Amino acid sequence: MKIIKLLSLVLFCHMQAWAVNPLIINIESRKYTSLNGEWQYIIDVFETGYYNYKYIKRNDKDKQAFWNNGIPADKTERIEHGYVDKYVLKVPGDWNSQNPRLDLYEGTVWYKKSFDYIKSDKNNKLFVHFGAVNYKANVFINGKYLGEHKGGFTPFCFEIPDSSLLEKDNYLIVKADNKRYADEIPALNFDWWNYGGITRDVHLVELPAVHIINYQFAMQKDKTITCKINMSQYVENEMVKIEIPALKFVKIIKAKEAQNLSLKVPGITLWSPESPKLYQIIITTSTEKIADKIGFKTIETRQTELLLNGKPLFMKGICIHEELPTQGRRAYTKQDAVILLNWAKDLGCNMVRLAHYPHNEHMTKVADSLGLIVWSEIPVYWNINFNNAETLEKANTQLAEMVTRDINRACVAIWSVGNETPVSEQRTKFMAELIKSTKILDPSRLVSAALEVHYNVPDWDTHIVNDPLGEYVDIVSINEYNGWYGGLPTNCRTIKWDIKYKKPFFISETGAEALGGFYADSLTRWSEEYQEWYYTEQTEMMRKIGKQFVGCSPWILADFRSPKRLNPYYQEGWNNKGLVGHKGNKKKAFYVLKKYYEEIK
Ligand code: GCU
Repeated sequence: MKIIKLLSLVLFCHMQAWAVNPLIINIESRKYTSLNGEWQYIIDVFETGYYNYKYIKRNDKDKQAFWNNGIPADKTERIEHGYVDKYVLKVPGDWNSQNPRLDLYEGTVWYKKSFDYIKSDKNNKLFVHFGAVNYKANVFINGKYLGEHKGGFTPFCFEIPDSSLLEKDNYLIVKADNKRYADEIPALNFDWWNYGGITRDVHLVELPAVHIINYQFAMQKDKTITCKINMSQYVENEMVKIEIPALKFVKIIKAKEAQNLSLKVPGITLWSPESPKLYQIIITTSTEKIADKIGFKTIETRQTELLLNGKPLFMKGICIHEELPTQGRRAYTKQDAVILLNWAKDLGCNMVRLAHYPHNEHMTKVADSLGLIVWSEIPVYWNINFNNAETLEKANTQLAEMVTRDINRACVAIWSVGNETPVSEQRTKFMAELIKSTKILDPSRLVSAALEVHYNVPDWDTHIVNDPLGEYVDIVSINEYNGWYGGLPTNCRTIKWDIKYKKPFFISETGAEALGGFYADSLTRWSEEYQEWYYTEQTEMMRKIGKQFVGCSPWILADFRSPKRLNPYYQEGWNNKGLVGHKGNKKKAFYVLKKYYEEIK
């Protein structure tokens, strides 16, 4: 009961003043105003805009507080900050790739956006919605505090009360802080660039007082469709109309009852990679009419089988970071998603593992239309503070935000609660809690996590899969780098797998680095030939694993930036395990994996 209470708190009723509002989804189907574009900024290394010289948080009346717009009342007034057009950053976008002074920066940047706004109906409510801010956002409007959000890869929104809204010259100020902490999610150590800032779209959203906050249409294993429509408030006799025009399906029902429906809809063509069928769904209330494009599929396991729409599925996957290697920046536009996911299609993939955090919404929407199965993951990565209950709540919050945003995306088949977390009793308890949360949030999908392989040293040829977390996941997934982190690929073909669990087995990562364009013999590490040899040997190994093996998502589609990768000749701040190089060039190994996937029917 405790977990359900926590989830209902986290998921649909952030009621505390400082916390975010219930997550509004499908912004593009609402009355919205984009705040994308140039935002003025201040780099505040010492957070002097937040703390006074005694290091006490400033108050709203303090003109030196950077959430005040920094304009002196008259020529005598001393103000030591200001927002000017000389310093602007593009939003959305990480700050690192926009300004060399910010490339390695970890700290606070204040952003300011001015706008005029007159509500179309004075009874409507106005919200500001962020696709994501990495890592912590404190949001103010016209000097008034709206609240705080933590988590660099999930959306959030705040209501702007009428008392804080002006018709002209509103100033929205965001304190974005990407410093790393041991008790956060992720923690101090991760193998990707710590891009900071307002990295995804920002919108004003105007909604009627009684509005649809979020909803879900999820096909369950028995082909019924769970429909949950969550309203801001329930008015007696308020009706909801649900339509799927292409199927001539109409249901009119009391709003209260639409909170938890089971729909039987005849004639559905199921979504699959071969046929990514999406239906227009229209939800109408007395005050709103919103439309979405939704597909329906079932995903389940049966013993060691993985079944999509009741048929065996082999996942021909690839891992992807949310980064455009050709520009060394966070990916955040629809065009970026099209580029990355079409590279995956070129590779012959039917699946993508969006590592190691929820990607922007364009990625799951484009995957929906391209027919790519998605593994979506929260960044419970490596060493997290598994002993801290607040850290677990932060992970649950990010999990709830990830699921709430994408539960209507048919392409999402697997929710992942983490990656390569070191085995300990506390860790397994922590991760098992997250799996329980996920099943409550969305019983229609599978849950997994990338586990580690173990060995009975010195027998390196037997890969043991006995991570205790295997008891809790639906698909037993492991990351293995035999031939990159352990020896050479020579023994791949003799590897034996000792898998403790009678569940589908998935290789969620395997890979080797190659500096694109560096050619040598296959024994020369960092060359394209070494990576090509690695993939040849790895795919030979995969061919022999047997029926329990349901696929792989090698690491990784494209080279990506990492402060941990510092070989001065072959890395220079890049992890070059990409099959696509910095310039969008396909390396030799790309074609080895492509061939392996082509052979699989
Ligand atoms: C790990 C980890 C990745 C990392 C990769 C590597 O498995 O999950 O985030 O980048 O290995 O070492 O390149």
